[in-house]
Amino acid sequence: MESNRGSWKSSAGFILAAAGSAVGVGNLWRFPYVLGSNGGFWFLIIYLVFAVLLGVPVMLGELTIGRYTQLSPIDAYGKIHKRARFVGILAILAPFLIMTYYGIVGGWALNYAFSYLSSASSVDFIELAILGTHGFGIWHPVIWNILFMAICWAICIFGVKGIEKASKVMMPALLILMLLVIVRSVTLPGAVEGFKFMFANTEGFSFSAIPAALGQVFFSLSLAMGAMITYGSYLKKDENLPKNTVVIAGLDTGVALLAGFAIFPAVFAMGGNPGQGAGLAFVTLPEVFDAMPLGAMCGAAFFLLVFFAALTSAISLVEACAAFTIDTWKWNRKLSVTLLCILFCILAIPNSLSLVAEGTIFSGENFLGTGMPIFDAVDFFANNILLPLGGLMMCIIVGWFWKPENAVSEIERTPGYTFKLKVVWSWIIKLVAPILILFVLITQFVEL
Ligand code: PHE
Repeated sequence: MESNRGSWKSSAGFILAAAGSAVGVGNLWRFPYVLGSNGGFWFLIIYLVFAVLLGVPVMLGELTIGRYTQLSPIDAYGKIHKRARFVGILAILAPFLIMTYYGIVGGWALNYAFSYLSSASSVDFIELAILGTHGFGIWHPVIWNILFMAICWAICIFGVKGIEKASKVMMPALLILMLLVIVRSVTLPGAVEGFKFMFANTEGFSFSAIPAALGQVFFSLSLAMGAMITYGSYLKKDENLPKNTVVIAGLDTGVALLAGFAIFPAVFAMGGNPGQGAGLAFVTLPEVFDAMPLGAMCGAAFFLLVFFAALTSAISLVEACAAFTIDTWKWNRKLSVTLLCILFCILAIPNSLSLVAEGTIFSGENFLGTGMPIFDAVDFFANNILLPLGGLMMCIIVGWFWKPENAVSEIERTPGYTFKLKVVWSWIIKLVAPILILFVLITQFVEL
């Protein structure tokens, strides 16, 4: 069974690929701006508590389901309980929806990196890359998305082998580039204010930071999206699951913090606004880079690393969808990856055009009465509703239907390994996690 699906060649390969999935624009773009708009310190604390208490146990659950079944999400859930297939459908729907806009963000990063590398002078990036007022006009971001997806395609057609190789190169490169930007950022005069904001600012906190933090933990750790089940399904039995989970979650959280160290000191040093929301990385930062010495170099490094991060995540999302068509519909990999990538490029068009100020049928601030443009509405629906819902169902299926004992015996199939925290883990999956997630889901609809 393992032979025709393929499996990871090495433990490091798997860890880098899974960390590559987790470390994405969620860490570099979403985490800093959500932290910035939720007041800094308290958000950070809540985020860390959720990551340990929910993120790690849920990730362990997903990797365990994957390794036990050696199947893609829908069949995997079907195997652990006959009525659970619908949870797998949720777990496929989320990456599918996310891929209709994730590539656009990846395309922006690629476009920014390219602009920084090709010209030393400052370009009006936002106008160029996002609003498409130059270049190919409003189609400009659509075209960069296609380029981004083409690179993604070229990796995914090689399956697990391609993903492992690409991750082994891009993840270390990402860390090195990150360190470069951090060194520059923290040596600016006034940089210390950025650290104060992250570790000491208690103003501007509101209870809406709690659901925001949970949604961010799920998104950042690639949970409830089929990605970890799929990657787990390529694991051999001798891998220690809890240890790997902790390493992957640790890397992801570490990179989110490092992103904060790269961004906030520079933003504060240059007098930018850390709390202005989604534009932090793509609008505020280029201005900050423009104003500081060695800024162009920093900009190139930063957006190249965002591109690497986005790519290693996008390949896991494409892979989660592709594994499904390959396992369940018996498509061949090339056909499946090609069709999916084309489909994502097409579906990205309305999302991309919806951000363009005016002039297309898709632009507008009120998609289906949501009060948001399509781009934001899809992001909101996937992250704030589908992900917590998928996580909740995963906990219920594993905790109450499959039973934690069975999961634990899969975890302990690693020769010579006893899972010491099994009782704690079982209770988290059965009770603590579902209650917390349910609470957060309800707060999406009821004002706190
Ligand atoms: N975790 C990725 C990020 O932080 C996003 C992602 C989600 C990737 C789910 C794959 C699967 O950006």
